[in-house]
Amino acid sequence: MKNTASLLKMKKEGEKIAMLTAYDYPSAKLAEEAGVDVILVGDSLGMVVLGYDSTVNVTIDDMIHHGKAARRGARDTFLVVDMPFGSFHGDIHQSLQNAIRIFQQTGAEALKLEGADEVVDVMRLLTRTGIPVVAHLGLLPQTAGVLGGFKVQGKTAHAAHKLIEDAKACEAAGACLLVLECIPYQLAREVTAAVSIPVIGIGAGADTDGQVLVYHDILKYGSHHLPKFVRSYAETGEMMKNGLSTYVSEVKAGAFPAEEHRFTMKEDELQQLYG
Ligand code: KIV
Ligand code: NA
Repeated sequence: MKNTASLLKMKKEGEKIAMLTAYDYPSAKLAEEAGVDVILVGDSLGMVVLGYDSTVNVTIDDMIHHGKAARRGARDTFLVVDMPFGSFHGDIHQSLQNAIRIFQQTGAEALKLEGADEVVDVMRLLTRTGIPVVAHLGLLPQTAGVLGGFKVQGKTAHAAHKLIEDAKACEAAGACLLVLECIPYQLAREVTAAVSIPVIGIGAGADTDGQVLVYHDILKYGSHHLPKFVRSYAETGEMMKNGLSTYVSEVKAGAFPAEEHRFTMKEDELQQLYG
């Protein structure tokens, strides 16, 4: 269950695709053990793991570093790695070289690119080269600076029409999967029906072929703001903080380490030591 054909089969058979981000060995391992169908090493790592205010600071080397770690944690799950800001615009042959580097070094099954228009040509070239491509339309966090923040997209008939055409263009260029972020559910439903590749939503309602969310959001791991479309399934951050503060207070009180945590020198060795 680790190729584009199996994902396509899930769409055809109406089996929902559960996708989740992960950024390192333990998170990818837990995601795989939990039965996640697709793991995304998203450039959201810039915000939730590296502490930047946006994803534009994330580099190709960051993506490779985290992609390799996630791959080691989840060898048997379809792994997607984001192409970061600035790595797939401009010269198309440079974009291909960047993609080849990320694809080869991480061992991912596919690379994800935000946007359509000129990006469609890159998708076509990557696909022809043998790199499966995941498209990403709707809210594009890499262009939040131009959009004026993180806002719902495709709310007007005009914008919705453009998004449907973009989705078809991505499919025609060879995209194997399409992520729709932060758009009205009616439009997401329309796009899901309009293309034959699986459509994965985030903030796009329940009528897509699957869902994707950010690891740190669903586990409440970290202290960042949670968007409206997130449901949290665990209070990991609170749990971790409690564990950490108990450790600190036990060290200060001398309650840790206890006898069972220590190592012992034999009596005769001790006598020799003391002479
Ligand atoms: O980087 C990311 O986490 C993403 C998902 C939100 C789709 O691109
Ligand atoms: Na991303």
